[in-house]
Amino acid sequence: MLYPHLAVNEQHHLTIGGLDTLSIAREYGTPCYVLDENVIRSRCRVYREACAEAFGPKALPLFASKALCFTGMYKIIAEEGLGIDCVSGGELYTAEKAGFPSDHIYFHGNNKTDADLKQAVGMHVGTIVVDGFDELEALETICAAAGTRQRILLRIAPGIDPHTFRAVRTGSVDSKFGTAIQTGQALEIVRKALSLPHIDLAGCHCHIGSQIFETQPFRDAAAIMVAFLVQIRKDCGVTLSELNLGGGPGVPYTQDDPSIDYRSFVTELGVIVRSVCESENFPVPSVRIEPGRSIVADAGLTLYTVGGVKEIPGFKNYISVDGGMPDNPRYALYQSRYTALIADRADEPKTYTATLAGRCCESGDLIGENMPIQKARRGDILAVLCTGAYNYSMASHYNRLPNPPVVLVRDGKTRLGVRRETYADLTALDQEI
Ligand code: LLP
Repeated sequence: MLYPHLAVNEQHHLTIGGLDTLSIAREYGTPCYVLDENVIRSRCRVYREACAEAFGPKALPLFASKALCFTGMYKIIAEEGLGIDCVSGGELYTAEKAGFPSDHIYFHGNNKTDADLKQAVGMHVGTIVVDGFDELEALETICAAAGTRQRILLRIAPGIDPHTFRAVRTGSVDSKFGTAIQTGQALEIVRKALSLPHIDLAGCHCHIGSQIFETQPFRDAAAIMVAFLVQIRKDCGVTLSELNLGGGPGVPYTQDDPSIDYRSFVTELGVIVRSVCESENFPVPSVRIEPGRSIVADAGLTLYTVGGVKEIPGFKNYISVDGGMPDNPRYALYQSRYTALIADRADEPKTYTATLAGRCCESGDLIGENMPIQKARRGDILAVLCTGAYNYSMASHYNRLPNPPVVLVRDGKTRLGVRRETYADLTALDQEI
């Protein structure tokens, strides 16, 4: 099995965290997101331990909660001692409801509204990652009115173009995110931040992209960012003490994808940061990283019920499931590849090839094309693996489909993280007109 927490039991059924996926499907219905909580927790520990080793005991890895956001998830992250990256008022609100410690929240976003900024300042969010000049001025005004001083990082575009799909590259000079070093604007915004009385500039942030397997782009970004801190010291006379290197380590979705040892990834970052600091005689900053996908993706799978199989001789085979792009838009958006199997006969060889179709009224509603899988029958439970990240958090109600529940598996038991939406939930906001 591609992931060690998945196995096949004596009934030939797929299991997750030791529990039969067919029983989970029976109990909670389909479609249904299932997460192995122990996998999430142990990945948090890998990052926490590796960061402490590489960057010292005060190191704080952050979970990028855009990958998976619900109240219980923030509780798990708080229990594991990580901080979080939030990117909207909704994520901040959910974190607050979960009782997440506000000083361990980093608030991101390339276009925060005044309302977002006021909410963050009002919540005493530890750090706001300011994206550009206009936001910096808006934040100064809001903090002045509130009579408070806000700790910030500045989002910097280091000019790195990693090998990943275009939609998730974020570190290049022409990115919508941050301020570029190359154009001189990054230094300008540092000067501006230092001049503002209600702004406490702690350091810089960058995020080069997502689903990246090579470590070189991360090492390049780290070296460029430390060099930028050195330049700030030279040109502005201040030594900034924090460096946030963002998220992005890749996760294998299929047998063909490489895998990353997240511990050595962090160790490598530590080596490069320390060596550039040493050669420039610069004090080693507090380093933050913000993995999202690599904490939750492989912990999750989605269970569907097969509705039918359609074979078009000489063309292709379709297996239709009772979900699709509303619960997993990633193939439609990025042609992301997944591994799927029939959970009822999980150890049967995958001798069939099929396109997995969702139930929405458009041809692009697919979960994958030409995927190797077992022969399917109406009523089978079909599992799509590695759906813990950017599935529930990207879900929509297209075709007025209710969102599936999120079921957590831990120590032989299940519990609901999020209940299934009802039709009544779908009309709850509609007004009588
Ligand atoms: N930090 C910042 C500032 C980010 O923008 C992101 C992701 C992360 C951290 C976490 O990156 P990760 O470790 O998860 O790669 N919806 C796309 C992914 C978009 C990622 C956006 N930013 C997908 O489904 O692949």
